[in-house]
Amino acid sequence: MKRLGEGKSGQRIVSQALDGHVPDRTPIWMMRQAGRYLPEYRAVREKAGDFLTLCYTPDHAVEVTLQPIRRFGFDAAILFSDILVVPHALGCDLSFEAGEGPRLSTVTNLAELNALRDELDASKIDRVLEAVGRIRQELPEETTLLGFCGAPWTVATYMIAGRGTPDQAPARLASLRDPAFFTALIDRLVQTSARYLIGQLKAGADAVQIFDSWAGVLDPEAFRLWSIEPITRIVQAVRAEVPDARIIAFPKGATLQGLTELVRVSGVNAVGLDWTAERPATRLALGGKVALQGNLDPLTLIAGGGALDRAIDALMQDFHGAAHIFNLGHGIRPETPIAHVEQMIARVRG
Ligand code: CP3
Repeated sequence: MKRLGEGKSGQRIVSQALDGHVPDRTPIWMMRQAGRYLPEYRAVREKAGDFLTLCYTPDHAVEVTLQPIRRFGFDAAILFSDILVVPHALGCDLSFEAGEGPRLSTVTNLAELNALRDELDASKIDRVLEAVGRIRQELPEETTLLGFCGAPWTVATYMIAGRGTPDQAPARLASLRDPAFFTALIDRLVQTSARYLIGQLKAGADAVQIFDSWAGVLDPEAFRLWSIEPITRIVQAVRAEVPDARIIAFPKGATLQGLTELVRVSGVNAVGLDWTAERPATRLALGGKVALQGNLDPLTLIAGGGALDRAIDALMQDFHGAAHIFNLGHGIRPETPIAHVEQMIARVRG
């Protein structure tokens, strides 16, 4: 293969694409690639007992991060953790009830925010950073290691509501009713998330992804204020300490207008696209500026068969010759057949 992106990244083709090169073959990894669709994940999850123990026990976190790499040979591994580790390490109570998703103690005003920590609790975060270092050591040389955090907006929606919500109304209302509180919450998340990402990069992550899963509910002005601005401040703070940091933003549900502005303002290396993205228009607007990551509909992966083949072919065609990292448009669902993942990888790799 062409030796693009030499040096720090060596043959890591995900890193090459993030550096703006077009690798010889399209790199592939999957959001939520370590998860319940894998029997080996379910076994470790069972042994750990609960999800947070899994996240905070380096032996377990290392093992489940490596499982999809061993099984499928993906071009990137993503640290096994969760975006809600940040509020947890700020002092929020957090639990994951089976089949119900996350539950947090709520933060709804300045007094409650001020009762939290200013910085992440090292006794929690250091265990995650230990896992990062060990994963990097155990990964194949050519596999990129991704760290991550949630974007301030998305994390704030969980902190304010104490759980996932259909339309993020509690956080949207808080931003309108109590801007002083809401701004302070976003600021706290900008600062602590930046420190967290710096820690991950220094521990061995080759790149980091910022998940703004609920960006799609924001109107254009709110998208600027609560998605683009905080992400930009994180990018700046991270690059002040790690100047060559590779950063992917995934503002799920963003419009092309929003994505374009995010790319222009923030200086990220790549954007993640959900499955609703208009690929040709997105490539035209952003293809020369950043790497494009995505965007297979996770339901297509459940369907499999000819529908899956056709969707992959169209996607590969649209991004042929671009700095493209193949991925899903959102996380893989637990009911996805493993055979369909194998079919996808074989097709992408030709
Ligand atoms: O991608 C990976 O493989 C790395 C691990 C990872 C997890 N969560 C593991 C996880 C990552 C990157 C995340 C990010 C995350 N967590 C996001 C942003 C991405 C997205 O999906 O939009 C969000 C919004 C969360 C919050 C969260 N964590 C929810 C809503 C849930 C419950 C829903 C569910 O799928 O059960 C979680 C739990 C969670 N995080 C699981 C996993 C594998 C399932 C826990 C289990 O094993 O029971």
